[in-house]
Amino acid sequence: MSEAKFESGHEFAATLDARDPLAHFRQRFCIPKTKSGVECVYLCGHSLGLQPKSVRDVLDQELRDWANLGVEGHFHAKSPWMPYHRLLAEQTAALVGAMPVEVVVMNSLTVNLHLTMASFYRPTARRHKILIELGAFPSDQYAVKSQIRFHGYDPESSLIELTPRESESCLRDEDIQELIEREGESIALILLGGVNYATGQAFNLPEITRAGHRKGCVVAFDLAHAAGNIPLRLHDWGPDFAVWCSYKYLNGGPGCVAGCFVHERHARSWDLPRYAGWWGHDEKVRFQMGANFQPMAGADGWQLSNPPILALAPLRASMDIFSEAGMDRLRVKSVSLTAYMEFLLQQRGLDKFSIVTPSEKGRRGAQLSLRIAQKGRAFCEKLAEEGLIGDWREPDTFRVAAVPLYNTFQDVWRFAERFATAFQ
Ligand SMILES: Cc1ncc(COP(=O)(O)O)c(C=O)c1O
Repeated sequence: MSEAKFESGHEFAATLDARDPLAHFRQRFCIPKTKSGVECVYLCGHSLGLQPKSVRDVLDQELRDWANLGVEGHFHAKSPWMPYHRLLAEQTAALVGAMPVEVVVMNSLTVNLHLTMASFYRPTARRHKILIELGAFPSDQYAVKSQIRFHGYDPESSLIELTPRESESCLRDEDIQELIEREGESIALILLGGVNYATGQAFNLPEITRAGHRKGCVVAFDLAHAAGNIPLRLHDWGPDFAVWCSYKYLNGGPGCVAGCFVHERHARSWDLPRYAGWWGHDEKVRFQMGANFQPMAGADGWQLSNPPILALAPLRASMDIFSEAGMDRLRVKSVSLTAYMEFLLQQRGLDKFSIVTPSEKGRRGAQLSLRIAQKGRAFCEKLAEEGLIGDWREPDTFRVAAVPLYNTFQDVWRFAERFATAFQ
């Protein structure tokens, strides 16, 4: 649905919902309710996705198998625990546009970032810098600074932050290219968010990968806000590695196990240094309990420990829904939902907030970041009390995302209506 065709009345939102081929997926999620029992307008899937109703059954199965089988569950559970994480490989690969050998579900995002940097951030006197975006998610900033220090360098001279032009909030593609072109030979690692957590800006990942590789840099992405939000083609685009969490758009539950991609070209790079653990050891001989580490090919070779089955189970439930809906169809609805929200907010013509997120659909995902000059936090808390849930990020940003799996056009309409009147 193109923006030119949007209308501002509620009836129009109802018509869009009636025509939505993905509308039925909403019934498969638990929608939080207000104290008075009304369904919330939940626009916070960029922070914590909602619970698929099927999670209970999948979890119950594992609890029953544990109760009934004990250790035998490793081989005789309905879905044996030994190869359990494998059950997610194909769906995860499809989701991020990778080959199954390139992905693994393990640990949490920041842990995966450290594990992959241990292998791929190999600074030398000539090439020791890491390039990130200014205001990257704090955990990424802490992680890269600690890696720089770990290798004996100083973030003051080894960290470059891509900074938007004065009075602009988002980065221009040409400025990213230009910086890589200018500084590339001193950059060891480019690590950018696929979608910036604060502004909602989606970066041109294939172009950044090409530019970085042309200059000999390792290129990596933090896809926390991109996985399950925008279509990804990691294998074809060719970054060296990527990491993401599964509790946002992937609806895997709080603190769910994270994802990791290592490009096929590194699948058999046995000489790469890495932190090793027994689950990364060749599974054919893992239980021979040998003393010498032989990594598995591909991303599996970066695993450390046997996976937490009770944390993986909800992700299986959620990934089944993703596979059924299909990322391409979800993206079509997502583009429409976000454009509709932008249209409604702009129509209100208020000057007390501005939309920071780029307006081009190729430069954003589901999230819109609204900059509120004054008393924004109190304003958002008030909306939350009424059941309109987004989140606040200091110093001045209210983030909202209409998620195509469970949000409706009427959710967006209710939000825009209340947001505008609350301001007045
Ligand atoms: C962009 C980004 N990177 C990293 C993290 C940290 O993730 P974790 O706590 O799972 O390591 C988050 C968490 O919200 C994030 O949004």
